[in-house]
Amino acid sequence: MAILVTGGAGYIGSHTCVELLNAGYEAVVLDNLSNASEKSLDRVKQITGKSLKFYKGDILDRGILNKIFAENKIDSCIHFAGLKAVGESVQKPWEYYNNNISGTLTLTDAMRQNGCKNIIFSSSATVYGNPAQIPITEECPKGQCTNPYGWTKSMLEQILTDMQKADPEWNVILLRYFNPIGAHKSGLMGENPNGIPNNLMPYITQVAVGKLKELGVFGDDYDTPDGTGVRDYIHVVDLAVGHVKALKKIEDKAGLCVYNLGTGHGYSVLDIVKNFEQANGVKIPYTIKPRRAGDIATCYSNADKAEKELGWKAENGILEMCEDSWRWQKNNPNGYED
Ligand code: NAD
Ligand code: UFG
Repeated sequence: MAILVTGGAGYIGSHTCVELLNAGYEAVVLDNLSNASEKSLDRVKQITGKSLKFYKGDILDRGILNKIFAENKIDSCIHFAGLKAVGESVQKPWEYYNNNISGTLTLTDAMRQNGCKNIIFSSSATVYGNPAQIPITEECPKGQCTNPYGWTKSMLEQILTDMQKADPEWNVILLRYFNPIGAHKSGLMGENPNGIPNNLMPYITQVAVGKLKELGVFGDDYDTPDGTGVRDYIHVVDLAVGHVKALKKIEDKAGLCVYNLGTGHGYSVLDIVKNFEQANGVKIPYTIKPRRAGDIATCYSNADKAEKELGWKAENGILEMCEDSWRWQKNNPNGYED
């Protein structure tokens, strides 16, 4: 069975391609390479010993979408393609709404016109806003997002939900990711951010490799055990496996389903620093900085629903996440540019 993987050259998409190929699926990737390197797909082939099809193009381009559906028998789409930088989305809201929302509308229109009504969508814990309860279950109400990126996820969840209600032939699975970190155990694939990283783990690994001087810890006066922000970090390979499990659910005619993909454990910024140091024997110098606008104190999942309904559970602990992130960065100090 062929799966269309939009954004398949990116961080989560490339790891998911490995798991798809290993599980016996064919993968057809569509990516405009706006935030990725085609080399990630060479690494997918190297790791799996299998091939995949790559189309360089945009989800806003109906021409290439129709070409993909004409040339392949696509059963389902795993839709990762999107812009994801929170701060940039505040500066460029039109670009974010156009790329993420118009892009998904174009993609799903091409899908239905070509008789493919199965989609797994990359959503985010950000849709919970400042969560009404911790740990966060899927029943927790969606909240006020603090930036246009978050709103695109929240709005796209609503759009896909409404489409499924109107046409029950659609199977729509909304996966709300918590904080993906880590890298493939081979050290051949990992996160490859452009410029100075916004997210915690790539910042830490770039400090460790000597590209950045020290970590700034954004606030130590939150209402958390050590005052720093608490998040649910999940290994990217566990996340990738979650998509393969979600495909099985689609094959059983899922209808509309929503799942948290997290570990159910919360770690503070300082916990991550300590675990990284312990796992890798590298010191991470840091200073306390003011809070970052839009950050919340605590965000971690209850992931029981995914375990019960998908048979999925995160396997990797925090030390493995730290080890694997470091192996990738150490072996590839310039990401895929080497
Ligand atoms: P990523 O930037 O590495 O991957 C996204 C990919 O989509 C990139 O390869 C990019 O080139 C491609 N892309 C963007 N716009 C496109 C377009 N119009 N047409 C074709 N390709 C396009 O990001 P990621 O971390 O792998 O995230 C994948 C998805 O998961 C995104 O939708 C993201 O919003 C979502 N998500 C990520 C996180 C996270 O922390 N990484 C958390 C929650 C949700
Ligand atoms: N942090 C620092 N210093 C840094 C970077 C981050 O102290 O240099 C702190 C943050 O304040 C926060 C924690 O580390 O407490 C995690 O921050 P990240 O930027 O790594 O992740 P966020 O939880 O802010 O956001 C991530 C993704 C969003 C997504 C959200 C929920 O970037 O896209 O998880 O899934 F919406």
